[in-house]
Amino acid sequence: MKERRIRTDRLPRHVAVIMDGNGRWAERRGLSRIEGHRAGLESVRAVLRAAHELAIRNLTLYAFSLENWSRPKLEVEELMHLLEHYLEAEREEVMRNGIRVRAIGRADLLPPGVRRRLDQVIDESKGNREMTLVFAISYGGRAEIVDAARKLLRDFELGKVDPDRLDEKTFAAYLYEPELPDPDLLIRTGGESRVSNFLLWQIAYTEIHSTEVMWPDFRKSHFVDALLDYQSRERRFGLTSAQVRSDATEGP
Ligand code: FPP
Repeated sequence: MKERRIRTDRLPRHVAVIMDGNGRWAERRGLSRIEGHRAGLESVRAVLRAAHELAIRNLTLYAFSLENWSRPKLEVEELMHLLEHYLEAEREEVMRNGIRVRAIGRADLLPPGVRRRLDQVIDESKGNREMTLVFAISYGGRAEIVDAARKLLRDFELGKVDPDRLDEKTFAAYLYEPELPDPDLLIRTGGESRVSNFLLWQIAYTEIHSTEVMWPDFRKSHFVDALLDYQSRERRFGLTSAQVRSDATEGP
């Protein structure tokens, strides 16, 4: 019913998700936090399936932040096991659905097993064209900007960059996945309204949908709600409402 109301001509080209609330979901049920993460895997599957069915071209999931390395050792280890397990278990579906997998973040910090599985699925799926799924793992938005600045400075030393000609487009080419469009929609579950160091450069004009639903409860119907909320927004990119409307009526 709801799905029919989604306008296919106004789909976000890129949806990013902060999957928050696993710990609270578990604690409320008297379970360990890791049980919450485990339950969250089902939501990852459901959202990937929904995004694919609804023809969303790019989906980025915030699976593990650089700050998350400071969580209790056991929780970090269990999360790494879950990631490794997920990457192995979902390979087949990823390939069947023509999904290209990518990863952003400081991969050198990951345990070898996770890295191996990640490299494997990235390599296997590199020719897929239906959809791109990006895992932000060991990821920080500020770290991404610092890493970009590092690469840029190296190119400067090689004489490849002219500081006077540096602009936003040139800088953005040094970010982790420069080919991806910026997210049009950022979904955050778990009831908080924070950006939490996620895609800081890329979300300059992103619409944010925050929901009270905890990540392990998040399903296709909630994803559809987020898309409908997105489609109800007027995106002005710094212009006035009148300017945006006249652009829309003038046509190309
Ligand atoms: C935030 O919830 C969630 C995480 C830090 C990890 C997200 C991981 C998964 C959903 C499982 C594995 C993911 C993939 C992509 C296979 P929280 O622990 O901060 O929850 P809280 O705010 O309630 O404590």
